[in-house]
Amino acid sequence: MNYTRRHLRLGWWSLLVFLLLGLGLELLHGFKVGLYLDVQNETRRLMWTLAHAHGALLGLVHIAFALSVPYLPKLATLNRARISWCLIGASVLLPGGFFTAGLAVYGGDPGLGIVLVPIGATSLLTAVFLAARASGSAETPDGTGGRRD
Ligand code: HEM
Repeated sequence: MNYTRRHLRLGWWSLLVFLLLGLGLELLHGFKVGLYLDVQNETRRLMWTLAHAHGALLGLVHIAFALSVPYLPKLATLNRARISWCLIGASVLLPGGFFTAGLAVYGGDPGLGIVLVPIGATSLLTAVFLAARASGSAETPDGTGGRRD
């Protein structure tokens, strides 16, 4: 599995999708759509803004992981796969949970989709913990560790 290619593709495409969501929110403002801007729909606005922000930032996290992979040659194959799947899970569940939670809101309460959010957050924290733990043994791809001598 080429993790650099996988996560560069996922990162750039998810960044595009969630920036387009930002553009969609911009349009809802521009056309003063009550479904989004009315005071009683404040929860929906918060949920969709959170979906946009988390989705865009997770796209950048995919790109950061893709670019890190060549510097982590000692990262065990199993942990590389774990980080990859945890990041993918987080990218679906965190912004997806916020977005679906905003589709049907119950007064000040978000919809049922909100239950996906803590699962996505746990998935993201797991991926970041595994990557942080591996970062101590980072090397340059040529194995010199950046030394010139
Ligand atoms: C990497 C790029 C981006 C990141 C990390 C990002 C992140 C965020 C964050 C954190 C917020 C919440 C701000 C707050 O409520 O205080 C926000 C709001 C917003 N963003 Fe982005 N954004 C990005 C790019 C864009 C782009 C390209 C667009 C439009 C084309 C956009 C449109 C919006 C809109 C309209 C809101 C306000 C939503 C509302 O309050 O109703 N964003 N963004």
